[in-house]
Amino acid sequence: MIRPILIHPDPRLKKVCTPYADSSDAVRKLAEDMLETMYDAPGIGLAGPQIGVTERIIVMDCVREDTEPRSPIVMLNPEVIASSDEQNVYEEGCLSIPDQFAEVTRPKLVQVRWMDVDGTEQTREFDDLWATCVQHEIDHLNGKLFIDYLGAMKRQMITRKMQKLKRELARGD
Ligand code: NI
Repeated sequence: MIRPILIHPDPRLKKVCTPYADSSDAVRKLAEDMLETMYDAPGIGLAGPQIGVTERIIVMDCVREDTEPRSPIVMLNPEVIASSDEQNVYEEGCLSIPDQFAEVTRPKLVQVRWMDVDGTEQTREFDDLWATCVQHEIDHLNGKLFIDYLGAMKRQMITRKMQKLKRELARGD
């Protein structure tokens, strides 16, 4: 089921999310909905708060070519446990901040630990776009958006655009 995606600014996007003690059928169903919502958008990552879920869950698939097989990953309680000194710059966007993009610098390589939907602990290293994406999604679980890395002027400009967009959406324009 495709879930509506919250648009910034929204207090639910600023919350620090709570960890899972374990997985469950409800969590597996939620993960399916999140992947469906992400692919439909389309996007390469989605975090719980973006659909109003304040628990530590993210989904990702950074395979962007339609010709390549999908590579979905679902993470509960994801945590960066090591990161490279080497940095990478990507132009980031966010499904909660539609049509706005800005360069963000983050570690190029990260090692991430998480619990999968079967309740098993996983650890894997991610690089380049996958590394940027997983860091961006984990930020969401801590109430942080990519625009929080930008200067105040740019952040306020984007926020005003989003307020305007939300007014238009509310009016049904
Ligand atoms: Ni995002």
